[in-house]
Amino acid sequence: MAYDLPFTLFVLLFLVLLQTPSSSWRPADDDDASVSRSAFPMEGDVAWVVQVSDLHISTYNPERAAELALLGTALRAIRPHLLLVTGDITDAKNQQRTSSRQDEYEWITYKKTIDAIVGSGGIDKSRIFDIRGNHDTYGVPYRGGKLDFFSTYSVNSQFKRLSTISSILLQGDRSYQFLGIDDTMNVGIRFPANLFGHSTDKRIEAVNSELQYWTNHSNVPVTKVVFGHFPMSFTASSEKGQRYESVLAGQSISAYLCGHLHAKVSKQLWRYHEIRTTEDHKSSFWEWELGDWKDSRLMRILAIDGGAVSFIDHTLKHALQTSILITYPTDSRSMNMLDSEKWSMRNDINVLIFSHQFISNVFVLDSHGVKISSEQRPFSVEGKMAIPTSPWTNYLLFEVQWEGMYQVLLWSNLAFTIVLLFIPKLLYHFVRRSSSYQRWAVSIPSSSIQQRKPYFWLVWFLMEGTRSKPFWFSMVTYVLWLIEMPWFWGHATSENGEIAQMYLSGWSVPIHDGGLTGNKLSNPDVLVITLPFLYLVLVPVIVLTYGLFAEKATVFLQHRRRVVYSLDSTNVHAESPRLLPVAPRASLMKFADKMVSMVIQFCGSWTRRALLLACLITAAIHLKLCSKLMSAYGTVPVALSPPLTWIPLLLLGGAAYCTVLHAD
Ligand SMILES: *[C@@H]1O[C@H](CO)[C@@H](O)[C@H](O)[C@H]1NC(C)=O
Repeated sequence: MAYDLPFTLFVLLFLVLLQTPSSSWRPADDDDASVSRSAFPMEGDVAWVVQVSDLHISTYNPERAAELALLGTALRAIRPHLLLVTGDITDAKNQQRTSSRQDEYEWITYKKTIDAIVGSGGIDKSRIFDIRGNHDTYGVPYRGGKLDFFSTYSVNSQFKRLSTISSILLQGDRSYQFLGIDDTMNVGIRFPANLFGHSTDKRIEAVNSELQYWTNHSNVPVTKVVFGHFPMSFTASSEKGQRYESVLAGQSISAYLCGHLHAKVSKQLWRYHEIRTTEDHKSSFWEWELGDWKDSRLMRILAIDGGAVSFIDHTLKHALQTSILITYPTDSRSMNMLDSEKWSMRNDINVLIFSHQFISNVFVLDSHGVKISSEQRPFSVEGKMAIPTSPWTNYLLFEVQWEGMYQVLLWSNLAFTIVLLFIPKLLYHFVRRSSSYQRWAVSIPSSSIQQRKPYFWLVWFLMEGTRSKPFWFSMVTYVLWLIEMPWFWGHATSENGEIAQMYLSGWSVPIHDGGLTGNKLSNPDVLVITLPFLYLVLVPVIVLTYGLFAEKATVFLQHRRRVVYSLDSTNVHAESPRLLPVAPRASLMKFADKMVSMVIQFCGSWTRRALLLACLITAAIHLKLCSKLMSAYGTVPVALSPPLTWIPLLLLGGAAYCTVLHAD
């Protein structure tokens, strides 16, 4: 009981430490809410736009930019009102894809490619709108800085449209508003801890009022489409916990277009958001992700016909074939629920046909004699919807709110760890006080050891695991350290930039006037670092340490018993050396023999060997994770960060060493 007081103080000290408030400085947020407006005339009430996403123009994969020539040719046939590029313009990765940096050459390539597309596609350059994706901010310390090539080479920069919100209006018999949102980080953390969109209260409010603006100032109905890089499932909430979904639904937008998730899992990530905006009114909108240009060469044509939104996706691996987009009646799988009073049935069928050839028949028979029919789709004439069911992978990626999911995964892991550390300690403490544990453990007849119930072994494992005070204290200190103190240091923003610290709650980055950002950045993005470490390293380290100590105790117990029994049966010589092979006592023992006997002693029983193997595997996983971090944030600072890099190895090695049973 001697350690009761220090132990309590120790925990209290840490709890006090956990409460230290952090200052709430935020990086310059002037451009959080800035809006740039553009307006273009439109004839009639049908408009169509082209979207491409995730180009990932790369120094090492020149074909991605080269094949954008196909887009130029396609645009000549499509003649869209707008071209939207929804982020991840450049790849910004090294050749091995292990680390990230901005590469000016990739941006120059982008600019040249766009100029070529403008030339071959015949599109007015001012009708091209591009926004940043997370790759475009990898390692960009601040917006407008020298590494922010978007602000020099993007189309938006050439037209001085660098606001985070771009509002575009097509004005004709109706008005169609397209609103682009750039939610990339202000301080661009390098790969991998940069994969969420981060909004602010100010920006969400600005989006709300901009979506309201044309509804107030237009005397014709306005249909609204919003576009951005990040899906809602990868967008973090604002400081006050606000989210876009309610604003977008409240403003009755038709659809939110995004990219980011590529087409690896599915080309059809469609999500229907239905949000209660007032007591008795629900509003809804669609979220349609577009797969990548990078590998899939996807392109979307989206049309609005008298307010009805429809789209078709094409793979541009070859030149665009004739494309048939039926804009009315709408596809029942992707249409918006309309108020039944407002629903007016039209008795027309509208089709947009984009072709390089002359169209000679509505079957669409082109001048090469190729007969093309439209995609089959279940039309909705009366406004009935059919929401398609999607596979669970789509659900996981596109409908799970990853910000919330992270909190669940993180805190359940930490709660488990804390229970694992403290409950057996408390149990042990109480049992030891009545000193019944010793008697209980020793009183077991050896013949029945094997027949013990599983719970016995669980309690045994936990109790014996926590018995080593130095290890238990080290592990508790370590876990508390991980909760509140920096995990490691690294070049979080640019390759040779200043050293930042990563905490469980995000990065603390030095800012240009010398201080540190009070707010932790890149949360929940750090989940790609924290979750693998907590699940694959921290928990296994604790469990294995317990295992090694419990195994030692078991062998000890068995040995003791055997000696007792064999004394009884006067058979000492046959039984006693069973525990471990005794090193040869020859006075001239060779060095090699000595080594072998040390190894045998170290490896011990089969259980111990299995545990040691598990330790090696855990150490290997840990080193693998560390080496990934080293290539991402710099070898030296990460390697010199003991909390992350060295403590788990020390704990495992120390436990393996301290649990060697010495013969004799
Ligand atoms: C639109 O009109 C409403 C009511 O007339 C007003 O409260 C709101 O501030 C206006 N919003 C904008 C952005 O003009």
